[in-house]
Amino acid sequence: MCGIVAYIGEKQAFPILLEGLKRLEYRGYDSAGISILNGTLKTVKKKGKVSDLEAVSATIDTTGTLGIGHTRWATHGKPDDINAHPHNSGDGTISLVHNGIIENYATIKKALEDRGHVFKSQTDTEVLVHLIEEFKNQDNLDLEQAVTKALSRVVGAYAIVVVDKENPNQIVAARKSSPLVLGIGDKEFYVASDASPIIKYTKKVVYLNDEEIAIANRDGSFVVKNIHNEIQEPVIQELDLKIEQLEKGGYDHFMLKEIMEQPTTIAESMRGRINAEEGWVSLGGLEEHQQRILNAHRIIFVACGTSWHSALIAEYLIEDLARIPVEVEYASEFRYRNPILTEKDVVIAISQSGETADTLAALEIAKEKGALTYGIVNVVGSSIARVTDSGSYIHAGPEIGVASTKAFTSQLVVLILMALKLGEKKGTIPSGMLRELIYGLESVPKKVAEILEQKEKIKLIAQEIQNKPNALYLGRGLNFPVALEGALKLKEISYIHAEGYPAAEMKHGPIALIDEDMPVFIVATNVSAHEKIVSNIQEVKARKGVVIAIVNEGDNIISGLADFTFEIPYIEEPLTPLLSVIPLQLISYYISVMRGCNVDQPRNLAKSVTVE
Ligand code: AGP
Repeated sequence: MCGIVAYIGEKQAFPILLEGLKRLEYRGYDSAGISILNGTLKTVKKKGKVSDLEAVSATIDTTGTLGIGHTRWATHGKPDDINAHPHNSGDGTISLVHNGIIENYATIKKALEDRGHVFKSQTDTEVLVHLIEEFKNQDNLDLEQAVTKALSRVVGAYAIVVVDKENPNQIVAARKSSPLVLGIGDKEFYVASDASPIIKYTKKVVYLNDEEIAIANRDGSFVVKNIHNEIQEPVIQELDLKIEQLEKGGYDHFMLKEIMEQPTTIAESMRGRINAEEGWVSLGGLEEHQQRILNAHRIIFVACGTSWHSALIAEYLIEDLARIPVEVEYASEFRYRNPILTEKDVVIAISQSGETADTLAALEIAKEKGALTYGIVNVVGSSIARVTDSGSYIHAGPEIGVASTKAFTSQLVVLILMALKLGEKKGTIPSGMLRELIYGLESVPKKVAEILEQKEKIKLIAQEIQNKPNALYLGRGLNFPVALEGALKLKEISYIHAEGYPAAEMKHGPIALIDEDMPVFIVATNVSAHEKIVSNIQEVKARKGVVIAIVNEGDNIISGLADFTFEIPYIEEPLTPLLSVIPLQLISYYISVMRGCNVDQPRNLAKSVTVE
């Protein structure tokens, strides 16, 4: 995934682009670059962070009121100065930035080389800008026409912004499968991969749809067309994001801010969707297709990473409470295995970003095979939100830290609401239990806040674990996916090898790993399997393993056995993942900080994987 920013208007473009790129660094940060048009085309680009780009830009004249910028997460060509974007045409008149993958770039590149084009980089993006140049010069087309013709030859995903030295009063932007937002100012336009670089200047935006091209002019006019040159009616939206949401809010890292704001974000994900007094739950997107979902042959979740973990928890809850068969699939596996699907199936995609390529591809297969598609997404206007038949936003607000935290708990809230609603409609949840669970759900924000108040205790546990080379996470039932999530958090931000396992599986292999140097996190809040968890802990202790147990308040049995214990407040068992994950998030955060890792932008990772 990469970040794109562009500007045309009366202000100086460079400072706008630089600040915008800094807001987008979470999308990709192995290199960055900017082009400014001011009679001449000046391009500066650099391996490294935006701050490195800022340093080298100090040596050149960056005045100009038209410019494009880019932060890169490499797909084709290693991260270096040459492969960084923007990429320019051979004649030096056109400059382009791109997020996505041109799958047929090699064929196009060969044809262009045969016509004398010379390439400097290994990227697919440079091929695209040369293709635009070819059509512009050979077919005597203007920028818009050349871009349209070039994109009709392209197979793959793109979000691009293109400028032409010979037409300095226009910006052309286009998207397919990668997000792009057009910000509309007073005789000025902003283009970006998401709203964060735009919100400071204007709240009026247009989210481009797939195969749409926006042509924005310095005189304040703009038009949106599709790839077939047909004019589209743009939907101008008013952003309700606040700029401070995008700041760190006084915390050292976005991840800590996002962990600490979970009482609020969990409450936001429930707002207008439950009422304990009156005993109801409501999920708008679900109700639109309620009958079809209630009568579904199967519900199939497709997701990746943390979103896949929340899907696993949904499987336990929906099957237990609503008695509808559920399957959970890694989207990346589902999309390639020619799955058996019919219109009697419901495919639910869970995705914080709404842009994960594998999840989008899995949805395309579901749509082709006639299944009902549903999205559980955080980013408003994202691709998954737009390609699904219906869906529910989780309302967690922008999640900037690469490691997902508040999005996970807000996904769980929506999935719990779904299980309760479906169970209520199917009559498989006794009304007393439904009301009890709704009351329990309403109490979650306060109980999460109680856990967060004990962050110093959690930090002490982190200190004991910070230098361990490996870690095991165990859980039973609903807590097995929580164990997986805890392991993913630790490995992705502290680079400690960690794996999650069903606790009962220990004896089938992992127990061979246990020694005094192996910390074993055990998520032990199950009431229904308590004695089994106790024996798992004893197995670990017998082999000198270090046990860190997450337990229910007052569980003196496990507290007496474990080396470290963290108690969560009482809550109904189906809701415990919302609480038991919190200490695991914080432990991973503190260990990452203690190990001097880049918490918000861990190595090799990006916030949303929009490539395969
Ligand atoms: C989780 O901490 C990771 N950032 C990663 O596994 C993430 O959950 C995964 O890439 C899926 O992203 P999505 O929810 O935006 O689709």
